Amino acid sequence: MKLPAERGPISRHVITALGDDAVAVPVPALGPGDVIDDADVQLALWVIYELHYRGFDGVPADREWDLGLVELRRVIERRFEAELRATTRDLLAGVPEHGDIGQQLLDLVAEDDSPSAAAFMHRKATREHLVDYLRERSVQQLKESDAQSFVLPRLDGSAKAALAELQYDEYGGGRPERLHATMYAESLEAAGLDRGYGAYIDEVSALSLACTNVMSMFGINRRLRGAAMGHLAAFEASSSVPCRKIAGGLERLGFPPAVAAYFHEHVEADAVHEHVASHDICGAMVAADPSLREDVLFGAAACLHLDGRAGAELLERWTAELEQAS
Ligand SMILES: [Fe+2]
Ligand SMILES: [Fe+2]
Repeated sequence: MKLPAERGPISRHVITALGDDAVAVPVPALGPGDVIDDADVQLALWVIYELHYRGFDGVPADREWDLGLVELRRVIERRFEAELRATTRDLLAGVPEHGDIGQQLLDLVAEDDSPSAAAFMHRKATREHLVDYLRERSVQQLKESDAQSFVLPRLDGSAKAALAELQYDEYGGGRPERLHATMYAESLEAAGLDRGYGAYIDEVSALSLACTNVMSMFGINRRLRGAAMGHLAAFEASSSVPCRKIAGGLERLGFPPAVAAYFHEHVEADAVHEHVASHDICGAMVAADPSLREDVLFGAAACLHLDGRAGAELLERWTAELEQAS
């Protein structure tokens, strides 16, 4: 993958530092606004994280541990995490301090009242809207489940066995063509889009980047392993019904069956995964170490908050387009 185009001073700093003419330049200070929906900062963070995944053409692999970039990563992460903790505080205030954590996670998802982009895609969206959705989601789905793999060596016992079971499924159960990331690439291609890893990085929104960056932040930092698994539980538990609706929307609009195949796969799979993630992984983690409870819930709330905002952003864009056209 090529390095993306810069979107402002922070991403320019990172991309310049990794480019052919890498020179030591002072790290620019972050602006005063929120980093959650700052495209420049989220792109910079995405590029730094990508050094831990597959990297970029022409960038030596050991830049992964460039101290200046690791330092910038930590500066951005501190702000990103603090904003997420502040914004999810009210949502978590009503969750009892004791009780079945698995059920509490599923209840959080069930009570989430974010507007549903999936319902819109099911009934009202145009072909262009579905293509827009596939493109925006490509930054996370083309490396689906990879962030959670960073957590495996940080777990033990039942939680580790359950995460390995879930990941085995996400990684195709031994069949490369069933890797969920590969199935997403097939969907992109069948819809006439570029299946290349990172192909749309220059086009996606700050929130789309934030939705994938939060998984990397939780996955890469051992300190945040509870949040990583809480995020996974909420992600899985908020997937099955929307995937059925999106598949229905794709079929309504006459997309080839290969486009909907990824979504059909997730109707069944994620109905199982939500129980594995919430009860078998998070339940076991908290039973083994009750101090993780708060972060498990935080991770779930962060997932619902960010995915809710990303969905609302798309809905706003699409309804404005429909109103303009009518
Ligand atoms: Fe999946
Ligand atoms: Fe899943």
